[in-house]
Parts: sequence; C-alpha cells; structure tokens
Amino acid sequence: MIQMLNRVSRFFNPLQSTTGAGQADIPQAFMHPGYSENMHAASGQKSPVSSREQSLTSSSQKTRVTSSEQSPDSSGGKSADPSAGKKSRMETRDLTVTYGTTIGVKEVSIPIYDKEVLALIGPSGCGKTTYLRALNRMHDLTRIAKVTGQVLLDGKDIYHKDVNPVNIRRRIGMVFQKPTPFPTMSIYDNVIAGLKLVGIRKKSLLDEVCERALTQAALFDEVKDRLKQPGSELSGGQQQRLSIARALAVDPEVLLMDEPTSSLDPQSTNRIEELIHTLKDHVTIVIVTHNMQQAARISDRTAFFYVGNLIEVGATNDLFTKPKQNQTEAYISGRFG
Ligand SMILES: Nc1ncnc2c1ncn2[C@@H]1O[C@H](COP(=O)(O)OP(=O)(O)O)[C@@H](O)[C@H]1O
Ligand SMILES: [Mg+2]
Repeated sequence: MIQMLNRVSRFFNPLQSTTGAGQADIPQAFMHPGYSENMHAASGQKSPVSSREQSLTSSSQKTRVTSSEQSPDSSGGKSADPSAGKKSRMETRDLTVTYGTTIGVKEVSIPIYDKEVLALIGPSGCGKTTYLRALNRMHDLTRIAKVTGQVLLDGKDIYHKDVNPVNIRRRIGMVFQKPTPFPTMSIYDNVIAGLKLVGIRKKSLLDEVCERALTQAALFDEVKDRLKQPGSELSGGQQQRLSIARALAVDPEVLLMDEPTSSLDPQSTNRIEELIHTLKDHVTIVIVTHNMQQAARISDRTAFFYVGNLIEVGATNDLFTKPKQNQTEAYISGRFG
C-alpha cells in the first residue's frame, strides 16, 4: 500500500527521479504547467529515496513556544479566534525564501490549524505564492530558491533531510491559478490519472475514486453522463473543479490553492467557494487570493503579507474589522495594493 501511494505521489511530482518510474516514463501531458518552469532544475534531482524515508522524522532543530501552544486570541463573540482550542496541523517558523538576492518571504511564522481555511492576502509580489509553495516543498524544484526556517506537518519538519518531498506533495496537494486538465484525456481519465499511472487497473476501484473525487469537487452531477468526453471541453469553472477533483483523488490532508478563481466568472467562483466551504470538513486549506471579499467569505483566518513580510495574521473577522497594524488597515481600506 505504501509503495502504491508513493507511486501515486510520484504522479504529483513527475520530475522526481525515483526507481522504476523516471521522467522518461511520464507522458508529456503529465507535465503540469506548475512544474514546467522547473524542468531544468529537475535535472539535478537527488538520488532515489528508500522506503525508510517515507515517514516523517522529528525535527531536531530549535524549539520555542509555538503559536499553537499559546493561548488563543482573547476577543469574544463571532470574532473569536477560530483556532481556539485547535491543534496546529502545519506551522511555519521563521520561514524565509530567497531567490538569489530577492527576498520572497522573510521569517514568517504562522500556525495552520486542522481543517481551517487560511487565506493569504496582500498586494502583488508580496510573497503569497512563495509562501504557499514552501508548504509542500515546491521550491525544491527551483534551483535559485533557498528556503530556511521550518515548515512543520504534525510537528515534524517537512524539510528534514530524511523526508521524501514526493510523499509530502501527496499529503499536501496543490491547485494552481489556471485550471490544468490534461487536454487529451477524458474527464474520467483526468481524475484517476494518478492512480492509473502507477498501474492500478481495477475498474471498480478507479470508478469509485473517480466518483468520490468528482463528488467532493462538486462536479459529479454535471459530468456523470459524459465521463468519457475530453476534460478540455468543460467550461473554465468546471475545469478548475476537475483540477481540484484530480488533487483530491489521492486523499491529501492539506490542500494549497493559489488564486484558484482568478480566471473564473462569478458563478464559477461561487461554486468553488461553496466547494471550499464543504471541503474543510475533510481537509485543511490554505488559499491565496487577491480578492479581499473572497477571503472574508471563505476563510477562518487571514494572513496579510506586504513586501515579503507577514504583517498580521488572525481571525478573518478581526483582521477585516479591527486590524492591529496600520499597513493592514491601509490595505483593506483600499489605500494601496
Ligand atoms: N522564480 C522566481 N525567481 C525570482 N524571483 C521570484 C521568483 N518567484 C517569485 N519571485 C519574487 O519573489 C517576490 C514574491 O513573489 P510572489 O510570491 O510570486 O508574490 P505574490 O504571489 O504575492 O504575487 C517577488 O519579488 C517576485 O518577483
Ligand atoms: Mg502569486
């Protein structure tokens, strides 16, 4: 089973060179646009991973009081910190990402609570995508990017040298800004592509996963009678839900979404927002959005970034109604950005 999951996860990082299924085995269609910029970097991949590396290893690095151990926000009523009493599922500590001399994000410490929606907001270029990509080690694939600090998943550092990044990317899935259906594949094949790629052929299992993932992505009813038609024939909003279904097919614990509705019409945006609302019963979601109304509608907590710094993070209601920092106030009232 573990071996199967590892093979599934390889699909989510087709550039990972591992025993049995190297890059040459992967059809070009599987080259996710989100990875394409990093294809060159991938040629410098590390050596194959052993099964020993499948489990996360405890971080032996510095410890200090984490936000999850601190008392929750003291504000009451609806604005009370939605993290109250919750354990952090992930956490970044002093996370810094640089691209050569350019700082992407600097010393960002945020706890991410189980089954919450955390929104990342801020003006263009402030480091939202950089932060998001650090959460599932996507920067490993960018030669120029350097990551320091810690990213913990269930208290264990995902950047520890013994951790297999491919396994991390299976547990922490990602949905990109543009819908990314594999154009030559049917809707059905798009959803179960990861499973099929690793040799799972049992039709009943594939059917089951397909229906489950499409249902979770709120797309099943719309496509159930045309599963064999190409995914590229769907509307933009449906394609984005198809991309979400594909991400969900391998049961991620955390879902990272980078402006998933920025290219969608209002109706499709609504569907995705409703979907996020439902999904958080099962998964922890971190979503980048440049749309403050969207952050207000869908998130439990919001983090505001400005030129690579985390300015403020807290309950969404609080951040939008009584921001603690002047820069947050200026941004949410539209004075810049
Ligand atoms: N691959 C890269 N190479 C060099 N600089 C980058 C790269 N990606 C992002 N940056 C820089 O990092 C900073 C943060 O970018 P980004 O995280 O994409 O911001 P946002 O998603 O908030 O618009 C910007 O200055 C951007 O130019
Ligand atoms: Mg971005």
